[in-house]
Amino acid sequence: MRDTREKLSALTITLHWIVGLSVIALAVIGVYMSENEAFELYPIHKSIGVLIFAVIIARVYWRFVNGWLEPVSTYKAIEHNLAKIIHWVLIIAIVVMPISGFIMSGAGGYGVSVFGLEVIAAQFDPIAKEAIPHNAALAGFMAEVHEIAGWTMIVAIVLHFFGALKHHFINKDNTLRRMLGKN
Ligand code: HEM
Ligand code: HEM
Repeated sequence: MRDTREKLSALTITLHWIVGLSVIALAVIGVYMSENEAFELYPIHKSIGVLIFAVIIARVYWRFVNGWLEPVSTYKAIEHNLAKIIHWVLIIAIVVMPISGFIMSGAGGYGVSVFGLEVIAAQFDPIAKEAIPHNAALAGFMAEVHEIAGWTMIVAIVLHFFGALKHHFINKDNTLRRMLGKN
């Protein structure tokens, strides 16, 4: 079933919440682990990040096959455009984040494993106890991309979240209820 103005398909709702909640969890873990050097969390962050990428591909594919959602009602052009920009930022960010993370870790010599299953081998100097990068410039660039896209995405999520609350509590429309499948 395709999305309509009245009702969203089960696929849209399921993919929105699986990816949305996973991405919020990844952002929280990502910021926490890098600020606090909590290295024990890195493998968990990477594993979830790689696995969710498969769902993200399906989600983004479905969004473009199905087209963007029709707004529940008519709103001021500025509100509509802002929501549209934020949806684009979010869709682009959820593709850029796992790819940049994967390349940063792979090219940096840290390796990538999914819950213990090795995808890209790590390359450690046993004496200096440091990763030996395969390509330090690429790893460094991707680390910048991951950080900048990550923070841009976090700002977009906050605006998106307050936008959803505004529709629900101020406009009192069906926007949030429709995404929760409750209409
Ligand atoms: C949707 C997927 C992902 C999201 C939303 C995400 C989000 C984030 C965020 C917000 C940060 C903190 C950035 C900072 O303040 O420096 C971070 C850090 C990090 N992420 Fe991801 N990430 C994702 C996927 C991945 C993947 C697939 C990998 C690797 C395979 C990865 C590896 C890392 C690493 C190594 C760091 C720490 C960087 C550092 O210590 O400076 N991430 N991530
Ligand atoms: C608790 C947090 C969230 C709430 C309450 C929420 C709520 C909503 C609602 C109500 C819509 C429908 C908007 C409309 O009818 O035009 C929507 C759409 C959307 N949301 Fe969220 N969302 C949340 C988190 C996220 C996250 C974390 C992401 C991405 C990383 C995301 C990405 C999107 C995108 C791209 C759309 C456009 C429609 C689509 O592609 O399915 N959302 N969200």
